[in-house]
Amino acid sequence: MSETVETILTEREKLLNRFQNKLETAYHLNRQVVSFQANKSQPIYRWFKYKEGFSSTLVKYFLEKYSKKTGKLLDPFAGVGTTLFAGQELGWESYGIELLPVGAFVMEARKAINEVKLEDLTQSVKDLWESLDKMKELKVFINHISITKDAFPDDTENYLNKYLNYCTQVSDKPLSTILRFAAFSVLEEISYTRKDGQYLRWDYRSKRNLNGKPFDKGKILSFQEALKVKLNQIIEDLSGQSTRNLFDQLEKKDINELPVKIIDGSCLEELPKLKSNSYDFIITSPPYCNRYDYTRTYALELVYLGYNNEQVRNLRQTMLSCTVENKEKIESLNSFYTSLNQSEVFQKITEVYHSSEAMNEVNSILEELNKIGSLNNKNIARMVKNYFLEMCFVVYEMARVTKSGGYCVMVNDNVRYGGEEIPVDLILSEFAENFNFDIERIFVLPKGKGNSSQQMGNYGRTEIRKCVYLWRKK
Ligand SMILES: C[S@@+](CC[C@H](N)C(=O)[O-])C[C@H]1O[C@@H](n2cnc3c(N)ncnc32)[C@H](O)[C@@H]1O
Repeated sequence: MSETVETILTEREKLLNRFQNKLETAYHLNRQVVSFQANKSQPIYRWFKYKEGFSSTLVKYFLEKYSKKTGKLLDPFAGVGTTLFAGQELGWESYGIELLPVGAFVMEARKAINEVKLEDLTQSVKDLWESLDKMKELKVFINHISITKDAFPDDTENYLNKYLNYCTQVSDKPLSTILRFAAFSVLEEISYTRKDGQYLRWDYRSKRNLNGKPFDKGKILSFQEALKVKLNQIIEDLSGQSTRNLFDQLEKKDINELPVKIIDGSCLEELPKLKSNSYDFIITSPPYCNRYDYTRTYALELVYLGYNNEQVRNLRQTMLSCTVENKEKIESLNSFYTSLNQSEVFQKITEVYHSSEAMNEVNSILEELNKIGSLNNKNIARMVKNYFLEMCFVVYEMARVTKSGGYCVMVNDNVRYGGEEIPVDLILSEFAENFNFDIERIFVLPKGKGNSSQQMGNYGRTEIRKCVYLWRKK
């Protein structure tokens, strides 16, 4: 008599088995193409490095491979607009939603370069230093918030303030935008801080009282040094060969005729206002479920743009939950959908969330780990729960607005907490299936993401999937 050994699979393993034939190692989509790296040498992208972005090569690859004709393209987490502008270059009408004013400002600058006169910019740069030295009465200042206070050496701060005043006096709007953008792009370089995902790291030379191991950022550029380099780079790109490459798909005038529409706000509130079945393609990358705090990482840029403490805090809470500080949004989502007369939709989305066994398993494991103190922050369980809950709304809305036969491409990383892998790719794909998307492929990047040394020490090194999902509306 043969004996069968029954293995008890976890819900996540069952889900993996279900999607196994959709997972495909994507040798053609290496990390360079997916990440911001591939943009590095390109004008505009190289002026302001938005490391959270993906590459325009990736966007163009998917649009060209999966669509024979152009149409309407959407990115609900638009960042600095990589999807939108890459799509525009290929002749797509592009629409984006972005919450962080940092992305919105970069996109504004990007539009301004099509309008600015190179001679005016060059002249302005020539006059700049003399004008700054002459500047006496300042009307505009950077108003620091607690997390940015003393970020700049005094001399730099003075120059920054003078420069801001200079920019407000430039009446030509595109020129003023480009000038403001140039200093915006060097804020990290001229400060005592370095962007570090969850917060800003502070150099030992700053006036702050710092705990822990001193951090040496290396050379900190003066305002003049950094700005000169940046302005030269911009002028060089605008006058040189590289700009022609940028526009090689279309004539400059045609680019201006194609709309790039950007909505400032949260996609949790803006997506539900969009018309059903109206977009042909979505290419997007939401924040990852990895505690990355955009509002702290980009705090210098936010204060430079005039945001105060309360506004930054509001932005942090309005963002998709991906930090341990995020509070639940479910009540406000309920009220919002009710105000749109869509209580049943709200009901349907939350039901899909609660019916995911893998999701329930992740939530209960994290709660258990929390109870025994195995998570290094007690709000991780809440963050993960809300990340998926909010993403369930986003996935529903993306499916609703996509035309039948249209595609949604999403870049996202899996994560691990307390040694437990959270299969973001599979859970989001399960939601997507429930909302009328076919899961065509889950492309897995050849080399997984490294683990933090702490996690490696505790649990051994295993790779976490970093993926690009390809979903198609039925
Ligand atoms: C991974 S980045 C996207 C980068 C983009 N693909 C690019 O190439 O620039 C995620 C973006 O989502 C934005 N975001 C976070 N919560 C949001 C929300 N509720 N609504 C709209 N955008 C949001 C963040 O500000 C961030 O720019």
